[in-house]
This record gives sequence, structure tokens and C-alpha cells, in this order.
Amino acid sequence: MIARLQSAPADAAVCVVGGGPAGLLLARLLYQAGIDCVVLEAKDRTYVEHRQRAGVLEQATVDTLRSCGAAQRLDREGLVHHGIELRWNGRSHRIDFPSLTGGRNVWVYAQTEVVKDLIALQLADGPPLLFEANVTAITGADTDRPVVHYTHDGIARSLVCDYVAGCDGSHGVVSAAIPAEALRTFERVYPYSWFGILADVPPSCDELIYAHSPRGFALHSMRSRTVSRLYLQVPNGTDPASWTDEQIWDELEARLTIAGGWKLTRGPIIQRAVLPLHSCVTEPMSWGRILLAGDAAHIVPATGAKGLNLAAADVVVLARAFAQWAVTGSSAALDAYSDACLRRVWRAEHFSWFMTTTLHTAPGQSAFDTRLQLAQLDRIAASTHAAAELAENYVGLPIDGRPAGVQSQ
Ligand code: FAD
Ligand code: PHB
Repeated sequence: MIARLQSAPADAAVCVVGGGPAGLLLARLLYQAGIDCVVLEAKDRTYVEHRQRAGVLEQATVDTLRSCGAAQRLDREGLVHHGIELRWNGRSHRIDFPSLTGGRNVWVYAQTEVVKDLIALQLADGPPLLFEANVTAITGADTDRPVVHYTHDGIARSLVCDYVAGCDGSHGVVSAAIPAEALRTFERVYPYSWFGILADVPPSCDELIYAHSPRGFALHSMRSRTVSRLYLQVPNGTDPASWTDEQIWDELEARLTIAGGWKLTRGPIIQRAVLPLHSCVTEPMSWGRILLAGDAAHIVPATGAKGLNLAAADVVVLARAFAQWAVTGSSAALDAYSDACLRRVWRAEHFSWFMTTTLHTAPGQSAFDTRLQLAQLDRIAASTHAAAELAENYVGLPIDGRPAGVQSQ
């Protein structure tokens, strides 16, 4: 295991840059398909395994993790959720996933745990995974043999490959190797952020609660039966240290509480952070021998819980394209990769924008705009069609309408 961690190969069919969910899942799928790859991750293992991020897995993400043998702990410890609750204007409405989507669900299982499971598998029997291997540049991306330059153990190294998979997140370097004139970026920055807390207290609900309130948005989520994850809409630039624990709980209570017996249970806050909300898509998602996946290609505001799931969907499509290339020598599916992913990406961008703008109150928002939001929420409660539209998007669309896994092409 140690040798695997420390070895620095000189070449590979695919060099995966980034050991977040996208890079690790891609490596697993390539390993299953018998394709040689190396994963280079800039940070150390502890850092990668403890970065607190997403918590909701779509049905298709769970199916994919199961198909590649990475769901044993998820199936034991993950919480299947059959719905979410919306709260607004003193009322609440439950969205029932199975009845609205033909039996699909989501799972609450933290990104930290998905990453731990994939790392453990890869170190046990997968392709090389190098931590603290910081990629500095890609050269020759428009040739058949691009070169990935990185530093590892303080030594400058390079790796020659057939393709580079840029799974290096929103601040990665792989996209920088693509000429600026070949890329187009579409983005939106929202005028509010999320103040997220992790609390050592059992959740006060069985399902996630998304609340629209005159004081701003709030979300009650969870990480397990004993750990709660909650978010408050706050102004951009808010210093998380400027709120006391009591102020945080008071504000959550004020935004989440509706008439009736529901009560928010308080507990010790063990982590806190402020996250900006941002939508961004880079087109195309490939150039020369570079293919971008996950946050390296697109970012969604967290309201729709889509970030990690989109990353997983990208790499399923990408792994299938690599499998076709490895078996037939044809790059047709790799050439079609960007277009195939962008259709799903823009659907998720729209849904994430819709959830964000329907549930948050923008600074200086007019009473007219608030009435429109409330009318939209009332419509979701009144119409099975409107509720089904939300539910289908929330549980996620099937990837290519095909069963999970790489071999199923
Ligand atoms: P990442 O997870 O960012 O992984 C990229 C990896 O590449 C990292 O490990 C990084 O260290 C590595 N890397 C970067 N540069 C280099 C380099 N030069 N060389 C080698 N390695 C490199 N989504 C939700 O749905 N719900 C949430 O609550 C939520 N919270 C979030 C909070 C934060 C602070 C952030 C940033 C994102 C959050 N997201 C959330 C989004 C979700 O976590 C991401 O969509 C998901 O992590 C995407 O996975 P990825 O593998 O594409 O990118
Ligand atoms: C989370 O648990 O972190 C979470 C859940 C749902 C969201 C966003 C974040 O929409």
C-alpha cells in the first residue's frame, strides 16, 4: 500500500488530475474497465478525506457507486430519503419522491465518506494514487502524448499519457492549459452566501427541510442520525466568527419554525464556514487530449444538492467513452463527451438556479418578487405536475437513460 502511494509512474493511458469525488470515481471506473491510469492529488490524504462539502447523493450516483463496489458502507450507514419538506409563509409541504418519480430516492451520505471509501478501494487494489502531487502545468495537450508536470516529495516530475482528465475542481490548473480563445465561460454570482454549521446533535427532522422566510433562506440537513448540518442565508462577506452559537440557533429557529409542534433541537456546533453561491459553466468540456469533469468544468449553487452528483455523472460518461476508445481505438465517444455532458449540466444549472432564486431573499428584493416566489411555492403544493418537476430534478435524471457502470455500453 505504501509503495503504491509513493511510486511515481512515468506514463499512463489516462492521467487523472485531482483526487476529489470526480477523480477518484473516474479512476475506479477506469480500473474496472481495465484502463491504466494514475491519479495525482495536490493535498494530503487527511485533508482530502475531511473536507466538509456535499451530503446528498442522487439515485444514479448511488447506483454508480454500487456498480463499482464502492457502496458497502453507504448501504450500511447511508440514510435513504424518500422526500423533502418545503416551508414557506407559515405552511409546509412534503415532496414525496417515489410516487412522483417512479420509485427514485436520494441518500444522505457525506462527500467525506464517499471520498474515504473510494480512497480505501484505490489504495487496496486500484491504480496509483499520489497525494501531495501538485500538478503545475500540462504541455502538448494538442498532441497525441500530452505531458503532465507536477511536483511530488519536493521533486519536479512529469508523466506522459494519452489523455488528461481534469478533475481538479474550480481552482484547478488543467483548464488553464486550454487556449483562452477555445473556451467560453458562463456565470452568475449570487448576492448572498450560506453560513453552514455542523452540529453534534441528532437532526430535528427525518427529511431535509428547505425554508423560505422573510428573514432569508434556511436548510436543515444532516450527516447521520447523530450529526446535523444546517445552513442560513447570510450576506456575502459574512465573517463566520462574528456570530455566537446562540445567535446561529436563534436565527435557524426563527427561519425554520412554523406553527405546530415542531421544535429545533440545539447542540454543540463543531464546524462553521461561509460558502458563496455561484453558477458557472465552461464550454466545451474538452480540448485536444484534455477532458474536464466535475467542478473543473461547472459549479452550481448548493441549493439543488447537485455539485457532487454532476461530477459523478460526468465521469460515468467519460469512463464509458474511454472504454470505447480502449476497446475499439475510436475516439468518437470521447469527441462527443462534452456535448453529452453539457445537456445534463445545463439542466442541473437551471434547477439549482431555480431552487436558489425561489427560496432566497435577495438584498432589496421587491414585495412583487417575494409574491412571485410564494406563488411558485403554492403552485408546487397545489399541482402534482409542479411537484413532480421538482422531485424529478432533485432525485436526478438517469445518466444517459442507461443502467449504472461502465460495462453496460
Ligand atoms: P473537488 O472536490 O474540488 O476535487 C478536486 C480535487 O483536485 C481536490 O482534491 C484538489 O485538491 C485537487 N486539485 C486541485 N488542483 C490540483 C492540482 N494542481 N494538482 C493536483 N490536484 C489538484 N455541493 C453540494 O451538493 N452540497 C454542498 O453542501 C456543497 N458544499 C460545498 C462546499 C464547498 C466549500 C465547496 C468548494 C463545494 C461544495 N459543494 C457542495 C460542491 C461539491 O462539493 C463539489 O461539486 C464536488 O466536490 C465536486 O467534486 P470534484 O471532484 O469535481 O472537485
Ligand atoms: C448538505 O447536507 O450539505 C446539503 C444538503 C442539501 C443541499 C445542500 C447541502 O441542497
